Amino acid sequence: MPDRRTPVTAGAHSANLRKKATIETITGLAALRARVAQWRRDGLRVALVPTMGNLHEGHFSLIRLARSHADRVVASVFVNPTQFGPNEDFAQYPRTPEADALGLGAAGCDAMWLPTVETMYPYGAQATVRVQVPGITTTLEGAFRPGHFDGVATVVARLFNQVQPDVAVFGRKDYQQLAVIRYMVRDLAFAIELVGADIVREDNGLAMSSRNQYLSAEERVQAAAIHRCLQAMRDAVATGTPRATVEAEASQRLQADGFVPDYAVVRRPDLSEPADGEDGPRVALIAARLGRTRLIDNLEW
Ligand code: PAF
Repeated sequence: MPDRRTPVTAGAHSANLRKKATIETITGLAALRARVAQWRRDGLRVALVPTMGNLHEGHFSLIRLARSHADRVVASVFVNPTQFGPNEDFAQYPRTPEADALGLGAAGCDAMWLPTVETMYPYGAQATVRVQVPGITTTLEGAFRPGHFDGVATVVARLFNQVQPDVAVFGRKDYQQLAVIRYMVRDLAFAIELVGADIVREDNGLAMSSRNQYLSAEERVQAAAIHRCLQAMRDAVATGTPRATVEAEASQRLQADGFVPDYAVVRRPDLSEPADGEDGPRVALIAARLGRTRLIDNLEW
């Protein structure tokens, strides 16, 4: 039985990669519970990595991070209808479970939890019990995507109840999502350790995202300007530029680079607005559209 406190070594990890070409795909709640219960009886620590599938290297880095925090890793793949707005791409969202399973296996994941909408929402997505986190869900992404974070909190609470992990890993690219989930975990007393994973970037600085596949080759090059803009915001704050100026200049810069910005802001980690001259950790967040693709990114310092 592996010792849950033993870190996964590079050697153990590559052996793992060789071993796991495929993983177990679980589609029924009873089977999921039986599998996790067995791991628990064996004294193993279980990690969950929630995803909506269509996985890329950014997701696989979450799996590898999860492995370093637990003995067994479950990745959920569920395109969650309750977090899509009426004009968003729920029906078109790419569903690639076979490729996802292969990639997850290669990254060292043990099981893919692949529920149906009926399993996730037995009373239907409209009649479901909803989890609504107050405050931070209505600004920034919440203002542009009303109801989005209610859907996220609702499905993540369900995933936590279904898998009952010891630890759950979320990407820091969805900064506000992680803040919402932190709030929910504390407020609803989930006994789950949350781990935020660093953003994985292309060589040119573009944050990895499922949405990047909608960018043309030219737009992919152009999109790297978001990361440069975030760095410029950080540098401007460091030289004492007032926050309002930093934000206005960032928006202008994005427009000059061909984007339609939704927001470009500097916030405290809890997403409240800092006063000029106030010390402390900060995060710059951008959401901007390039052609038909909406991109989000952030930089913490
Ligand atoms: O970040 C995502 O992919 C989704 O919002 C999540 C956390 C899997 C919930 O559907």
